[in-house]
Amino acid sequence: MKKLYYFIVLLTGAFVIQSCNTPPSASPEAIAAFESVIPKPVSATHTGNAFLITDKTTVIADPSAMEVGNYLVNLLRPATGFNLPLSESKDEASSGAIVLSIIDNKSLGDEGYELAVTTEQVTISANKPAGLFYGVQTLRQILPAAIEQSAVQTATWEIATGTITDHPEYTWRGSMLDVARHFFSVADVKRYIDLISLYKMNVLHLHLSDDQGWRIEIKSWPNLATHGGSTQVGGGAGGYYTQEQYAGIVAYAQARFITIVPEIDMPGHINSALASYGELNGGITIVPAEGRIDLSPKTSVIDGKSKPTQLYTGTEVGFSTLQLKKEATFKFVDDVIRELSALTPGPYIHIGGDEASVTKKEEYIVFINRFNEIVKSHGKRMIGWDEIAQGTIDSTVTVQLWHSEEFGQLAVEKGSRLVMSPAKKVYLDMQYDSATRLGLHWAAYIEVADSYNWDPATLIDGVAKENIVGIEAPLWSETIVTMDDIEYMIFPRLPGIAEIGWTTTANRSWEEYKVRLAKHAPRWKVMGIDYYPSTQVPWAK
Ligand code: ACM
Repeated sequence: MKKLYYFIVLLTGAFVIQSCNTPPSASPEAIAAFESVIPKPVSATHTGNAFLITDKTTVIADPSAMEVGNYLVNLLRPATGFNLPLSESKDEASSGAIVLSIIDNKSLGDEGYELAVTTEQVTISANKPAGLFYGVQTLRQILPAAIEQSAVQTATWEIATGTITDHPEYTWRGSMLDVARHFFSVADVKRYIDLISLYKMNVLHLHLSDDQGWRIEIKSWPNLATHGGSTQVGGGAGGYYTQEQYAGIVAYAQARFITIVPEIDMPGHINSALASYGELNGGITIVPAEGRIDLSPKTSVIDGKSKPTQLYTGTEVGFSTLQLKKEATFKFVDDVIRELSALTPGPYIHIGGDEASVTKKEEYIVFINRFNEIVKSHGKRMIGWDEIAQGTIDSTVTVQLWHSEEFGQLAVEKGSRLVMSPAKKVYLDMQYDSATRLGLHWAAYIEVADSYNWDPATLIDGVAKENIVGIEAPLWSETIVTMDDIEYMIFPRLPGIAEIGWTTTANRSWEEYKVRLAKHAPRWKVMGIDYYPSTQVPWAK
């Protein structure tokens, strides 16, 4: 009997020791999350066990990565309810820690990272804080979706062990938000930034002016915002960002490694400025308030009346133009670009340049060349829509391709590089199909597979990978009024476009991608994202 007792004690002891030493196995869910990262990493290998974030977990960051460390703990604290103390890496033990480490590994580039998960520790290594930030986005995606909750959850915060090595294919991975047709609040723009940063996008292009509204305070021309910003499509109240609010948006984006590219659309799409200052008016005399305009040449080319136009709340394009014959127009452009440049830490100013149908071609070219000189004089680089390829452009100018293969090719011949935004593929305001409750379809109906299944480097003859800076998905807002509308049009297409920008074409396939995409829906639900439940995607029931 005693023998049996000792035997049982021994066996129990052995079992306890054994279970202390046996690392936890990763659950099928944790492995599925590890395999479902979007954009797809260069390589990802899991090893079957799990690291658990607990109330003992700490976060240790390189001194130059404390900002990313703060971002990480702020991401993890609400749902876990853990303290997750953050400290600068010195020599303290790192077992049980999430470590953010700056290293020197040329193959990772400026934005790449390596994520190594063992049962003891999670280490994200990168050459630059940007890479650590993208490693954090991957870490976030391989945690349970409940990590996105804003209140404490009871969950096992499990991460499958393994290694992910990753770096992007293109340096420009962006989206554009049109805040001119309908105005969106600072809070909405910040949410937009958060949504695109989950998928490692690094550019937010803000379309800050159009016929219907001027959305940024310019102190030397105050009516632009106060009058030009006072309405929107459909005649609502509109709005504008004060320079202080705008600086807040820029800083919020910077903390997420997103460059804001501000656009003032000129010399067309400019009615809101012409309504604010008559001396800028290059010819429109009539813009009836209800938003219907007379596009006949007689009214559109009348010159020199210097009368302010009426505010415009319709959705026609191509009827307005800046006055070229007066030097005051270039004083206006210089003042606007000067104030905007001072608010812009990034290198680019977008001058629009699209659909200037009532600007004479020779005048248009003069405009573009002078805009370029003005942008350069304020220490910035010009980017514009593909029509600007008609100007005297070179390698210092970036061209955003949206509709014309010919202008894309012309830009490349002149030595410029392209941001690829082909309307038929990535215009996020295009309807998914004829039943979509929002959006337009002048370019195409764009289902989820259509927006994913293409390669920027083979889309246009004569435009190769080395001619392309990256890819950008615009969301125009003629029909987009609320944040819910925004989300419905960008999800689920935007993650796939982010993947085109990040992942090599050889490493992408729709059949494999759609399965990963489906796995993101629970996260979107937790985040309150209203998305289009495309029948092309095998969502979980
Ligand atoms: C554009 O869609 N007009 C650039």
